[in-house]
Amino acid sequence: MKKNIAVLSGDGIGPEVIKQARKSLDAISKKFGHTFEHDEGLVGAVAIDQTGDPLPQKTLTLCSQADAILFGAIGDPKYDNDPQAKVRPEQGLLKLRKDMGLYCNVRPITAYPSLLDQSPLKNTQIQGVDFVIYRELTGGIYFGEKGRSISGEQAYDHCTYSKAEIQRIGRQAFEAALKRRKKITLVDKANVLETSRLWREIIKKMAADYPEVSIDFLFVDNAAMQFILNPKQFDVILTENMFGDILSDEASVIGGSLGLLPSASIGDKNAMFEPIHGSYPQAVGKNIANPMASVLSAAMMLDHFGMHEESRQLYSTVEHAIDQKICTVDIDPIQGRGTEEVGDFLAEWILNT
Ligand code: IPM
Ligand code: MN
Repeated sequence: MKKNIAVLSGDGIGPEVIKQARKSLDAISKKFGHTFEHDEGLVGAVAIDQTGDPLPQKTLTLCSQADAILFGAIGDPKYDNDPQAKVRPEQGLLKLRKDMGLYCNVRPITAYPSLLDQSPLKNTQIQGVDFVIYRELTGGIYFGEKGRSISGEQAYDHCTYSKAEIQRIGRQAFEAALKRRKKITLVDKANVLETSRLWREIIKKMAADYPEVSIDFLFVDNAAMQFILNPKQFDVILTENMFGDILSDEASVIGGSLGLLPSASIGDKNAMFEPIHGSYPQAVGKNIANPMASVLSAAMMLDHFGMHEESRQLYSTVEHAIDQKICTVDIDPIQGRGTEEVGDFLAEWILNT
């Protein structure tokens, strides 16, 4: 098969980890006889530096013509600490999600058996955890009207959701649940927010079409606690944009390292794959960033292409590396390997097994 991949490495450690994902993809293409064409596009702070725009039109065009987008990371401290900044790197990512229609963000959370001791949570609590967060990605408070009063002393960010927006991600979550343990937990704040009440109303109605799927509801504050107290209870978490953002960082603690979590952002026409970790500016150029989340994001991309065996190969290769302790310092602070070394190990293992 031949596929065109738009590669948006972005900021910080993005280029370093994406380079390793590409090594793994090259190995897969050699082994399975595929052709992956890679075209690179600018996004984020590097795009602002070079063009003044965090998402140049050229990048958007590249992405809309590709079969998938492989994304690195976004963000730069020089913007984080400047509340007056007119353009921000993150605007590039948000516009990309919106313009590509990537409304469904999928974040799987698994506890790797050989990493149970890595987590600050107790082994017994996290052993066997396997759930997936379905986060709505193009609506809610992230995209509502925002602004300041004339005096500048008041600010607002509106949170809105429509029936259609809730239904389309709801459908994805129900379909995912059917292929898993058939349980959805809708996380909201329906005791306070009108948008949450609309979510409940619509998801409850949809549940009638999926009689095999059980559904329960959890307020987000309680969900934040349950993630730590008893994460095994979850199968598919369905939630709105900002709650999903916050809960997915919390959930990363279960897996032992944020450097291990991949994600997929799916729309009706396009799809993007990216590690959940940020641009980690402190690590840039030090060859210490964990490339596994990027490699696993590439695995999610292969699944999306229908290349299931190839995808399984990437998952099992990462698991093997973790078992063999071929890991970066976030996982193995004493004997941690470099980013490049882990990337080379993964690519070689794919070719030699
Ligand atoms: C994420 C990130 C983004 C978000 C930022 C970089 C805009 O935190 O993908 O989780 O808040 O969605
Ligand atoms: Mn986030």
